[in-house]
Amino acid sequence: MKKITINDLVKWKQEGRKFATSTAYDASFAGLFESQEMPVLLVGDSLGMVLQGQNDTLPVTVEDVVYHTRSVRAGSPNCLLMADMPFMSYATPEQACENAAKLMRAGANMVKLEGSDWLVDTVKILTERAVPVCAHLGLTPQSVNIFGGYKVQGRDQKNADKMVRDALALQEAGAQIVLLECVPQELAKRITEALDVPVIGIGAGNVTDGQILVMHDMFGISANYMPKFSKNFLAETGDMRSAVAKYIADVESSAFPDDAHTIA
Ligand code: KIV
Repeated sequence: MKKITINDLVKWKQEGRKFATSTAYDASFAGLFESQEMPVLLVGDSLGMVLQGQNDTLPVTVEDVVYHTRSVRAGSPNCLLMADMPFMSYATPEQACENAAKLMRAGANMVKLEGSDWLVDTVKILTERAVPVCAHLGLTPQSVNIFGGYKVQGRDQKNADKMVRDALALQEAGAQIVLLECVPQELAKRITEALDVPVIGIGAGNVTDGQILVMHDMFGISANYMPKFSKNFLAETGDMRSAVAKYIADVESSAFPDDAHTIA
């Protein structure tokens, strides 16, 4: 696979070409993903749940993400690698700069932050200092205790309109990717069409520019709960390499997510 940059993703958006992405946490799976030409990987703080067996992402530390970012970069030298900034690692812009530097030094090409318009100053400061940012909107799992559970976001008009404004404000501040989690497909379409930067979705229908899955869900090996919008591609294909290839092909053809894996 050739080296993937943000410019490739912007070009694909302009051409209407969909792209698949996945979480990854170690060199072996990162190598498998790269062998199937997965262009973007995320070291997600979902590692708290799928690797550490925690109930949520809150216990994950910057050091955890640094360790796994280094491993993924070793296995996939050419993907565009995003790394999650964990809970409370970007509470102030100063903290965000210090911790983002650790993730970039570990091999990330971009950091992902969960939030809304309160993040505008932080995104501006990071991007001005050469740290590319992906802004994660919708169901932001670090806010599970504020939301009172893992709930679909942006269902009512007021919150949907606010999410559109937040996405535009974060793009204006310098965010180069927006990730939407668990939002109605209609709202995901509105945001994807309103933004110039690529939009990656999970539980947001097949209307976004890219899709992401937690790799354990793709292989049907998540310990606890399998979200409605996730799909076990291993069950359908029988081996991991074919499962990854099928996921990528189905995203590129818009066959995934279908109606059964979409939040109305
Ligand atoms: O941590 C993670 O894996 C994520 C994805 C669900 C997008 O943020």
